[in-house]
Amino acid sequence: MTTLPNPSSPFLLPAPLGGTLVHRVRRAGHDFDPAELRGLPRLALGDRSYADLEMLATGAYSPLTGFLGEADYLSVVERMRLADGTPWSVPITLPVARDEAETYTGRVVLTHGGEDVGTLDVQERYDARKALEAREVYRTEDPAHPGVAALYAQGDVYLAGPVTLFEVPRGAFPLHHRTPAEVREVIEARGWRTTVAFQTRNPIHRAHEYLHKVTLELVDGLLLHPLVGTTKGDDVPAPTRVQAYEVLLDRYYPQARTLLSVYPAAMRYAGPREAILHALSRRNYGVTHFIVGRDHAGVGSYYGTYDAQEIFGNFTQEELGIQILKFEHTFYCKTCGQLVSPRTCPHGSEHHLVLSGTKVREKLRAGENLPGEFTRPEVAEVLRKAYAREG
Ligand code: ADX
Repeated sequence: MTTLPNPSSPFLLPAPLGGTLVHRVRRAGHDFDPAELRGLPRLALGDRSYADLEMLATGAYSPLTGFLGEADYLSVVERMRLADGTPWSVPITLPVARDEAETYTGRVVLTHGGEDVGTLDVQERYDARKALEAREVYRTEDPAHPGVAALYAQGDVYLAGPVTLFEVPRGAFPLHHRTPAEVREVIEARGWRTTVAFQTRNPIHRAHEYLHKVTLELVDGLLLHPLVGTTKGDDVPAPTRVQAYEVLLDRYYPQARTLLSVYPAAMRYAGPREAILHALSRRNYGVTHFIVGRDHAGVGSYYGTYDAQEIFGNFTQEELGIQILKFEHTFYCKTCGQLVSPRTCPHGSEHHLVLSGTKVREKLRAGENLPGEFTRPEVAEVLRKAYAREG
């Protein structure tokens, strides 16, 4: 049995991108007088922008301190770098309708669900280049792509400038909602010198578990980091996915080496570009390694199976500051009697059990059981109940 490193021996977590963890949470009544907000223009954020606001203000998107200005926007879209050359793959922008854009000047109060949630100091207002953004970031202009659809549905003008957030919104997952600084504290306290993060937006299945456990043979800790921001309508809702994680962690994961924490961002389905964003952002959470498997952050057949792995070749290891662990398609082989990949299994596809996300959802909607080789029964039960409630 291996032992964990001694937490009392000091070591350094990886530096955030840009060197400093951005922190722009300012509490009303503590850090500023709420009276200062009186009479300022109000801008109501949608769920996606609210998630971005949290990511920015808590440092999950360090070195960004706010929504991107035009020079950074174009540079990110066209060459996957901020204007100063720092790697960044997906533009973080704040869209507003053209006929409202002029009303937002100076300090603007951001609201969500009718509550004041933060501020934006408007420094720039510029036109979104939607067709260019779709082509470059999503590799398609097809409005059937959920990320492209969201892009086309939003406002045509982007506002830019530094933001503040009044309070980290932990309501939905109070036990699992941690800022990058808080995840860093846990990693330090547990003495993990190496930590792998796992991004996911789907219910956990055996292939996921296999990736986790193979990696845990090599690194000290596992940050299970399910995305809980907006996802497309037919993805399994975040509370159900988090519940599935809870039951599984209790029974099958080494507690001292595992941390379940939610990742508040919205899903963009930008495949390769989003894989880079996911990795850079996880570096800000203090992890050393990041898993990228088959069709990471993909949807439909817009991306090649391993495009999201190959795209990392555009950056040096030093620039990324996080080690990418690339896994081939993993599935159950009936003849091997275990989880395998094309790298480890000599048998043909007739020996393999492969279920797509769509197939899984079909089975769940029809009230059918999922095979144990695909999903553990405890998880299948959580999913079955959730689908039964949905009717
Ligand atoms: S994602 O949109 O967050 O990428 P998902 O939750 O399905 O979707 O995947 C989480 C991570 O596991 C991604 O890195 C993905 O590439 C990887 N992955 C999922 N299923 C498999 C599989 N069967 N084989 C290899 N990697 C996989």
